[in-house]
Amino acid sequence: MSDFLQETRRRRTFAIISHPDAGKTTLTEKLLLFSGAIHIAGSVKARKASRHATSDWMEIEKQRGISVASSVMQMLYRDCVINLLDTPGHKDFSEDTYRVLTAVDAALMVIDAANGVEPQTRRLIEVCRQRDTPIITFINKMDREGREPLELLDEVERELGMPCVPMTWPVGQGKAFGGIVDLRKQQMRLFAPGEAKRGDDDEIVPLAQAEQLRARFGHDFEQAEGNIELVREAAPAFDEEAFVGAQQTPVFFGSGVNNFGVQEVLDALVDLAPPPAARHVTRADGSEHEVPPHGEGFSGVVFKVQANMDPSHRDRIAFVRVNSGRYESGMKLRVQRTAKELRPTSVVTFLSQRREAVEEAYAGDIIGFTTHGGVQLGDTITHGDAPADFGTFTGLPFFAPELFQTVELANPMKSKQLQQGLMQLGEEGAIQVFRPNTGGAMLLGAVGQLQFEVVQHRLKTEYAVDIRLMPCRFTGARWVTCDDAAAMKKFVDENEGKLALDAADTLAYLLTSAYDLRLSQERYPKVVFHPLREHA
Ligand code: G4P
Repeated sequence: MSDFLQETRRRRTFAIISHPDAGKTTLTEKLLLFSGAIHIAGSVKARKASRHATSDWMEIEKQRGISVASSVMQMLYRDCVINLLDTPGHKDFSEDTYRVLTAVDAALMVIDAANGVEPQTRRLIEVCRQRDTPIITFINKMDREGREPLELLDEVERELGMPCVPMTWPVGQGKAFGGIVDLRKQQMRLFAPGEAKRGDDDEIVPLAQAEQLRARFGHDFEQAEGNIELVREAAPAFDEEAFVGAQQTPVFFGSGVNNFGVQEVLDALVDLAPPPAARHVTRADGSEHEVPPHGEGFSGVVFKVQANMDPSHRDRIAFVRVNSGRYESGMKLRVQRTAKELRPTSVVTFLSQRREAVEEAYAGDIIGFTTHGGVQLGDTITHGDAPADFGTFTGLPFFAPELFQTVELANPMKSKQLQQGLMQLGEEGAIQVFRPNTGGAMLLGAVGQLQFEVVQHRLKTEYAVDIRLMPCRFTGARWVTCDDAAAMKKFVDENEGKLALDAADTLAYLLTSAYDLRLSQERYPKVVFHPLREHA
């Protein structure tokens, strides 16, 4: 087997998703602890500045700072290299989350046993479903009184639109939580609270000794046995192909804070989650081809750009998901969009607690290129010698903003800094910037209100520009395309005042009311109004 194939096959890259407070941070930390990537619980948690959704931009700033270090974590477990990607919890940054989900091969969904599937989880599920991302489900907080396991499974099944396949089953719950039965290994892991222990410390009893378990856990064990029998009849057997094709989700129960049920999840990531698969690229002539992960030439895609924390340096980190080949330090690189060479000042890999210069990386890995510019969200980066018509990876979504504000400059002398700041923040995906065709003030478009606050604050602190944000009449946008040049010209001529170019110079039509879209579609049937733009 080639080295490439071997290295690719041992990669697992997944995102951890949940509604805030379900226990994502805790579980992340425990996965790192169990893999040996960190030694003391509390280190990830400590970096989480504020757990709660907040409308205070100072907190958001702190979170932003923290996320550079903690949003990508690599760990070794058994013979696998596991890349774990965190997703922002706040709904106003959901665009970021969607993009992170384009960079993974599976998702780990954390659900609070008392709350079930919560609104934010629902949105994330939709994105996973669109992309057919396989989902592993972890039902957390079994040490607290929660809902019946059967009821929870039913809800997950309905929300996901796919059957649940329990891999473990809880015995009791809350104060009476006795542990979990591993349905594959036919053994029960007995629950003992505490943050200091590892999986090896738990008492394990084979189901062959069910009498002993019945004696210890009484009714709870018998009820679990009954439920296990019930789901064995009702639920399908675990089928790897169905899971990888997002047709069923394996479900695990546990308690993250008590290090309980974590081992099973980590093993599932290695045993069940898929290694990187081939990815599509589109060439300039519109033709598509597949890039196999073990293909020799290095290629990757930028799914996140983040300004560095030191405001005196305008450098940014472009997070690249490697899609094929091997990255080696010092390698010549090219940005396919511009055909220009990329000369990063540093290239790092993200270990659990630190960044480290990367020696080599394979498909599935995430590496960070520090640059002074020249890279945008969605860019395809290849080896410098890759063919000029390599094409670009598609699928990175930009959502049509739902909120708009116009920018007014407090000091007109700062117009150049404003342009530069907005361009860079736009390239990061922090906000969408639109230039109206008829001139006039620049427009900012966002999906969540907090994005405006962050941009205003960052313009001030990083670019020394004070802006005022003013309400404006626009309530939405659609990117427009049309195969018929004459029809397009007519549309453009008649709507000049409502057209704008976005940061990628793609034409957008700005909506002023809910009816606007319907009326325009009727009036210009040949024009297509897109709610989503994929980076091309
Ligand atoms: P998040 O990243 O999804 O937002 O959640 P996070 O891990 O921060 O967990 C949210 C709260 O739930 C924390 O409590 C955490 O300790 C608790 N938690 C996580 N897993 C479990 C579990 O298995 N059982 C129980 N009972 N609680 C759990 P907190 O009181 O808000 O914070 P802290 O002071 O304990 O850190």
